[in-house]
Amino acid sequence: MTRPKLFVAGIYAADLVFTGNRMPAPGETVTATNFMRGHGGKGSNQAIAAARAGADVSFFTFIGDDAFGREAVELWLREGLRSKASVIKGQATGAASIFLDSKTGGNAITVFPGASRLMQASDVDRIESDIAASDVFVVQLEQSVDVARRGLELARKHGVIAILNPAPALDLPDDIFSLCDYIVPNESEASLLTGLPVETCSQAETAARVLLRKGARNVIVTLGEKGALYCGPADTFLIEPFSAGACIDTIGAGDGFIAGIAVGLGKGLPIRDAMRFAATLAGISVTRHGAASSMPTLTEIELALAGQM
Ligand code: RIB
Repeated sequence: MTRPKLFVAGIYAADLVFTGNRMPAPGETVTATNFMRGHGGKGSNQAIAAARAGADVSFFTFIGDDAFGREAVELWLREGLRSKASVIKGQATGAASIFLDSKTGGNAITVFPGASRLMQASDVDRIESDIAASDVFVVQLEQSVDVARRGLELARKHGVIAILNPAPALDLPDDIFSLCDYIVPNESEASLLTGLPVETCSQAETAARVLLRKGARNVIVTLGEKGALYCGPADTFLIEPFSAGACIDTIGAGDGFIAGIAVGLGKGLPIRDAMRFAATLAGISVTRHGAASSMPTLTEIELALAGQM
């Protein structure tokens, strides 16, 4: 089968990961037990995960003319991505400060988009033909909502499957939902978008139905260790999480899941199978450290799906 063509728009960030037993309280200093530099940014993570999972991926972003930006370009080259990045003179590349909980593998993130905060809708217009040539378009919200909306509009115009990962959580204009073939929030993002509590599966279903009424064609709410809930016009179901071993680091797991959905849909899989593929990809990623570095290859995902990992 030919490789699905994905177009991902979003940001790159240099991840500065501090592992510790607990988060510092305001005004407090705590000593970390470990430190790691890694490659992050939700868009870049999703692009890399999709490329490793077998897709032909183009990635659009802005980076600065600095060392982090040069490392990002080398990374995308190594990972086989088609970079559509612009280097913005005098601007810094994105960076993220990440606390990683040594006991649970959970995390808390502050991200600075750097040069990517200057991306505008008109910049997306310049890559319309690349979006049009794709099977699936994916975007998040670490750059401006205008950029996400323009990308979704162009994907809809050209009949490309459009996926919005509304992360980080933001209030969104009502007209964006009807541009989403798939909207894939986690619990806190679904809660912010609907004003409803989203802690249980049944609360996730209620919130997903609100997002359908707002115009999204399909909704997937990711629920961490409870799995992921699909809600569409004709069906609602829960996919169990996949365990590939002990969870040591959840950074980027959500990005792996989004990439898995995009690759699965790009291959023409039914949504249930695309979600299984995505859950397997994410389930492997949490057994490894880092965001981009934790993403598995297609062979690893296929072996795990076949029960041989
Ligand atoms: O989703 C995880 C990512 O969010 C991290 O890699 C960090 O860079 C932030 O963008």
